[in-house]
Amino acid sequence: MIEKGVLQIAFISKTTGQIKPSATIALSTRTAELKKNGKDIISLGAGEPDFDTPDHIKQAAIKAIEEGQTKYTVVDGTYELKQAICAKFKRDNNLDFLPENITVSNGGKQIIFNALMATLDQGDEVIIPAPYWVSYPDMVTLCGGSPIIAETSEDTNFKLTPEKLESLITPRTKWLFLNSPSNPSGCAYSYDEIKSLAKILLKYPNVWVLSDDIYEHIIFDDFKFTTIADAEPELKGRVLTMNGVSKAYAMTGWRIGYAGAPKILIDAMRKIQSQSTSNPCSISQAAATSALKGDQKFLKTRAESFKKRRDYVVQKLNEIEDISCLNPEGGFYVFPNCSGILGKKTQSGQIIKNDLELCEYLLEDAGICLVYGQAFGLKGYFRISYASSMGSLIMACEKIKKSIDKLEF
Ligand SMILES: Cc1ncc(COP(=O)(O)O)c(C=O)c1O
Repeated sequence: MIEKGVLQIAFISKTTGQIKPSATIALSTRTAELKKNGKDIISLGAGEPDFDTPDHIKQAAIKAIEEGQTKYTVVDGTYELKQAICAKFKRDNNLDFLPENITVSNGGKQIIFNALMATLDQGDEVIIPAPYWVSYPDMVTLCGGSPIIAETSEDTNFKLTPEKLESLITPRTKWLFLNSPSNPSGCAYSYDEIKSLAKILLKYPNVWVLSDDIYEHIIFDDFKFTTIADAEPELKGRVLTMNGVSKAYAMTGWRIGYAGAPKILIDAMRKIQSQSTSNPCSISQAAATSALKGDQKFLKTRAESFKKRRDYVVQKLNEIEDISCLNPEGGFYVFPNCSGILGKKTQSGQIIKNDLELCEYLLEDAGICLVYGQAFGLKGYFRISYASSMGSLIMACEKIKKSIDKLEF
């Protein structure tokens, strides 16, 4: 038996051994168990809009099937889709790209993976501001790089400062990741904040920027979205501007992400994709073309709906003793501070020592599924995704408050 175990360990690569399984697995397994046993659970853990894909986009996909667009396409996207992406970059971001500067993948996730695979050598460093999207550090590790975590704090609304950035840059730094609005905090960088980071980056030509703009259209209160290649054109030669249809157009299942970047990087990324997945689904590409070229007015209406929910959730969370929650500029997440609760006891005498234990308690006691802060690289917080009906948010906030109010020192 022991020998068999040893053999199996040797069979799985060292790199895979370094990758953490999804941080949410334990909680989602427990959620499934509780549901199976008949407990009502409100899940505020999902990273996707609760809206449906708009009808005109679905129709474009149906038409593509009927017209026989069911074969392989060019590896990194059809010419029609690349043209639609160029037009989108011009319209929304004031960025000029040619189709040869564009790549399309199976979701934004594959764009990031291709970019890292194409550029990282063993030990190359990638600066990742925390709290971060859970996949970033593990993707860097998988591609042989070293994630360098830049912890931020509530004092800067979870945003990286120029001083912190400069202190972490070394000759091995290949990339800085910027995600605005952010998953998990919802916070977004203003034009001035982006400019001040760009000023530092101009001094270090070895550093490229991966700008993850996937929440670009989910922005509130007239906040003006800024992307770094537009804010600082001198950096455009070393920026990968990444986006996708998952969040803006409620198309998470269609798996289309895209990016604009210098041709040298796009060509390298295409090579990776040609030897791994080949083209993204031809039908999804037709749907994404229609999404980017079609009516954009509904994006504002949907953002308005998210804003109402953000306002409600932030207000209700701040009414709970020992919880404080920033009012973020975008996304569909909030990242409340729960450090004041840590050390309190449940009615059965269990001490809540950290954010994971608080989320476990809220799942068992309140029936609310959340994601704990440590999963995003910052302790003492948890993430709520408010892409849920107003009815479930009202119920969830009441239940969270009731369960937290029961805790005592
Ligand atoms: C910050 C961020 N970037 C990228 C992605 C990837 O999205 P997709 O692969 O669905 O395009 C997500 C999805 O949750 C995300 O939150």
